Amino acid sequence: MIFFHPNNKQFHLSNEKISYIFKVMENGELCNLYYGKAMKDRENFDHLQSYYERPLTPNSASLSMLSLQYTRQEYPSYGTGDFRFPAFRILQEKGSLISNFVYESHQIFSGKKDILPLPSTYVEKEQEAETIEITLFDQVTQTRLLLSYTIFAYLPVITRHAVFTQVGAATISLKNAMSLCLDLPDMEWEMLHFAGTWGRERYLKKRSLEVGIQSISSMRGSSSAEHNPSFLIKRPHTTEFAGEAIGFSFVYSGSFLGQIEVSPYEETRILLGIHPENFDWQLKQGESFTTPEGILVYSDNGLNAMSQTFHQLFRTHLNRSQWRDKPRPILLNNWEATEMTFDEELILKIAAKAKEAGAELFVLDDGWFGTRNDDTQGLGDWFVNTEKLPSGIDGLSKKITDMGIAFGLWIEPEMINKNSKLYETHPDWLMVDPAREPSPSRHQFILDYSRPEVVDGIYQMLEKVISGSDISYIKWDMNRYTTETYSNHTPAEEQGKVLHRYVLGVYDLYTRLTARFPHILFESCSSGGARFDPGMLSFAPQTWCSDNSDAVDRYRIQYGTSYFYPISSIGAHVSAVPNHQTGRISPLATRANVAYYGAFGYELDLNHLTDKEFEEVKAQIAFYKKSREVFQFGTFYRLLSPFENHGSAAWISVSEDKSIAYAGYYQTLERVNHGSIRLYLAGLCPKKQYHVTSYSYDHIHYGDELMNAGLVIDRRILSRLGGDFTSLLFEIKEI
Ligand code: GLA
Repeated sequence: MIFFHPNNKQFHLSNEKISYIFKVMENGELCNLYYGKAMKDRENFDHLQSYYERPLTPNSASLSMLSLQYTRQEYPSYGTGDFRFPAFRILQEKGSLISNFVYESHQIFSGKKDILPLPSTYVEKEQEAETIEITLFDQVTQTRLLLSYTIFAYLPVITRHAVFTQVGAATISLKNAMSLCLDLPDMEWEMLHFAGTWGRERYLKKRSLEVGIQSISSMRGSSSAEHNPSFLIKRPHTTEFAGEAIGFSFVYSGSFLGQIEVSPYEETRILLGIHPENFDWQLKQGESFTTPEGILVYSDNGLNAMSQTFHQLFRTHLNRSQWRDKPRPILLNNWEATEMTFDEELILKIAAKAKEAGAELFVLDDGWFGTRNDDTQGLGDWFVNTEKLPSGIDGLSKKITDMGIAFGLWIEPEMINKNSKLYETHPDWLMVDPAREPSPSRHQFILDYSRPEVVDGIYQMLEKVISGSDISYIKWDMNRYTTETYSNHTPAEEQGKVLHRYVLGVYDLYTRLTARFPHILFESCSSGGARFDPGMLSFAPQTWCSDNSDAVDRYRIQYGTSYFYPISSIGAHVSAVPNHQTGRISPLATRANVAYYGAFGYELDLNHLTDKEFEEVKAQIAFYKKSREVFQFGTFYRLLSPFENHGSAAWISVSEDKSIAYAGYYQTLERVNHGSIRLYLAGLCPKKQYHVTSYSYDHIHYGDELMNAGLVIDRRILSRLGGDFTSLLFEIKEI
């Protein structure tokens, strides 16, 4: 998979789908020759390098013909005649930021190494990937730079990261260290990214690239609901089913920058990595810094193919838990039913009804610990509130598991309220500059996870609660961003390390808890989906997608989320109407038809349903038990975008052997007396005959007919169902 041509010092990473070609130039620096659809290997690809003589061009000091401003580089330095943003900057003791790394050596090997303590993608067998590590050296700073590239054998995936090691006696300071840089020869691309805020995460945003800089980022200490650390570029004509696209994703849960710079000569540079703001990493002699992993996925078959690659990569080469390949339990969470106002009797009543409906897991959300009766108090006190729950979590979990339903618990381990026992004992555990008042958010503050003793203290408390009870699921929440980055126990010259160390502290706690309790299914959460990123997915195979549980808003949010994240990772629940966030009343069937495409559950008290509604819920759960593997692990295609199509959406999940599929169609507002809808399905076997059923629909079709002529949906059916916010779920079963 990785060819090396020693005569021309060229490297060609290739599999059946992609080629990535770069070389060592005559001056020892690296330049990119090609990235895209697979090409046959050859001895020399030199002709792909562009040399330009342009007015006022600075040339490389060591090679007069070369201008780095017009060279597609692998990991550009500052101070080489390239005026674009560099991939890194090193501040030296004498104040210089100039560097120049030249090739020293390389090694190619089968498989892929971990970059612990950072999460990263992995392979289980050596033949699933090949890796090349290139070592470069800067003579003046005496710094070694290792650039690592892994190509997956069966997927159009390349992963990258960089390692800086200070060899010389002088201390250096990394001001910026991106995980990847990709220089492309033209700007005929559109950028698609996923932006939002609380309650409307990952709405699809699109813009054409322009000369200048366009970027997405988070400076909030976590990946954020505002921008997601996964984005893509596509050719203007690329659709869901055809054309070129390149997806970028960052295996990291902290602040990040994804930046696209287009030069006046219409060449494109893409950088992805830790946000340089608030980052400053000193390296003394012998010390190293490893960047998190950046991922590149290429598709020449449209956006669905790109998404399917990410789904497969994240499902089978990222998460490391025992739950990775297991169908997810149907859960009922009490948050929207009770918030923090409950007692043991009420919880047992809700859990018993969930069991009666057929649910497999009951989750007790916020409010069970300390004096947590509202959100002004209790965070940090990870011991049970016996006034509310006299039998403790141990007793309650036993009562619930004795009913025949598993028990799960909510925690928010990175946070503290000032009104808590933890604050009385450890006021110094807050991340705060003691000379200033920190800004509260939801009345809470951040614990200084850059300090191992803080992480350890919280681990001890949580270990006690979890080990003493019958717990098989944990929802790990995180309900505010970092505002004042400062660690009171860290020397001045290391303050630039605090935010990254915080993220490492979170990963450390995740590592310890998942190792200590390997049977537990973790679901990450951050005020809904504000930390839905590959770093979290490495530990927790699913993430609560949004606090907005309104069915109509949810198909937008889940649609956006599906561009990168697998359906099995999308926590999705049916909740009560009028919806708590929007006040909208949508049919129970639509709420379920949306939530099926995820880690499915309920978020309401089933005791409040009418008998008819309860029977409907029982039927939904029984249906999902038979079908969930198709929804969660099938091949997923987006069919109609809710960001167009008058807000209506459609998608389909197809089993691996194409013998069964489920397609969902969702109508936002009724459109009176309009033509019928032609829904073109995807992913089926053209020659197979399928029995297609839905509400009042029962026909037999060949796969090619369903894909080429489309499934015709009569609008009158949707009117009969109630018009606005109605939906249809089609079962498509091979005969
Ligand atoms: C966040 C979560 C919710 C719920 C509450 C509890 O908002 O996203 O699901 O757990 O916290 O306080």
